[in-house]
Amino acid sequence: MTNPTATLIEGDGIGPEIAAATVRAIAAAGGAITWERADAGAGAVEKHRDPLPQATIDSIKKNQLALKGPLATPSGGGYRSVNVTLRQQFDLYANVRPVQTIPGVPSRFTNVDLTIVRENTEDLYAGVEHYIDSRRSAAESIAIITRFGSERIIVYAFEYARRMERKKVTLVHKANILKLSNGLFLDTGRDVAKRYPDIEFDDMIVDATAMKLVLMPERFDVIVTMNLFGDILSDLTAGLVGGLGVAPAANIGDAGCAMFEAVHGTAPDIAGKGIANPTGLMLSAAMLLDHVGQRDAAARLRKGIKAALANPETRTGDLGGKANTQQYTDAVIRLFG
Ligand SMILES: NC(=O)c1ccc[n+]([C@@H]2O[C@H](COP(=O)([O-])OP(=O)(O)OC[C@H]3O[C@@H](n4cnc5c(N)ncnc54)[C@H](O)[C@@H]3O)[C@@H](O)[C@H]2O)c1
Repeated sequence: MTNPTATLIEGDGIGPEIAAATVRAIAAAGGAITWERADAGAGAVEKHRDPLPQATIDSIKKNQLALKGPLATPSGGGYRSVNVTLRQQFDLYANVRPVQTIPGVPSRFTNVDLTIVRENTEDLYAGVEHYIDSRRSAAESIAIITRFGSERIIVYAFEYARRMERKKVTLVHKANILKLSNGLFLDTGRDVAKRYPDIEFDDMIVDATAMKLVLMPERFDVIVTMNLFGDILSDLTAGLVGGLGVAPAANIGDAGCAMFEAVHGTAPDIAGKGIANPTGLMLSAAMLLDHVGQRDAAARLRKGIKAALANPETRTGDLGGKANTQQYTDAVIRLFG
């Protein structure tokens, strides 16, 4: 069997440091991936005057598989988020973020085990916004929710629940106020749920969900929601298990394209110091290995990560540990077992 080729976008800030650590750990775990490096983000603007060069798009198109570090996005003006463009370009409609308590990692809870399935292409992120007068004194952003987009993400959530042997899907919305757009999402969810009698289904308003997540996260199993709520709630849930530094994500499209990414940003405050925590990207890489059927390597990688995080001597400073990126990576590899 030939190794799958994956596009590797190291990204900006701490991206190259955590990408190097992750590529090393994958190889040591027995993961057989051929990496094809490509540029995006601020680094690509410097090098190619383009935050998303055509060569990068072509590489992902060809490989249908990518691992991506964080990319700097200018706030307000400047270029459009490359993350959002990539998701739309490859129709990566499902953003999947598993969140699990990691023993030893300081956090408020010991019993979190849930997954957020976020719709990735519609809602307020559809890019439909404009000033409504010539003086630019007011602007509007339009949330687009379609039955097609709703159905495919909700079906994905139920299929994921079945595949991962989960018991319940909770649909999160604000249909009490946004009666048309969120009402469409909720109605579609109720219809789809009838096709999955083996999976429990309920729905919850987003504000109540935020409160319940921080009071009793163990109540949740798979959450499916629209783009904006999913964006916010998935960072909230990462906070339940130790923060963004340990959170992985997958972006999956219908056409078979899949992009795995660290969900944290470029951490400019610590870039270049060799102290970044590569766990988020490593766990995303474990999802990539599962995706291409290299389950043994994925399990080995997760085992090493779990063991290295359990010990303050081997985990990184952001988690109260003493290790730098290289020492942590050495420990992950040593502790594969
Ligand atoms: N997926 C992405 O590409 C993505 C996501 C979020 C932010 N960003 C971009 O990143 C830049 C900085 O954003 P920000 O400062 O709001 O968020 P950030 O996630 O980069 O940093 C927030 C804090 O968390 C720390 N941190 C983040 N990741 C860490 C890691 N792996 N190890 C140790 N500490 C870590 C940082 O040092 C910082 O103190 C912005 O340009 C933003 O647009 C990109």
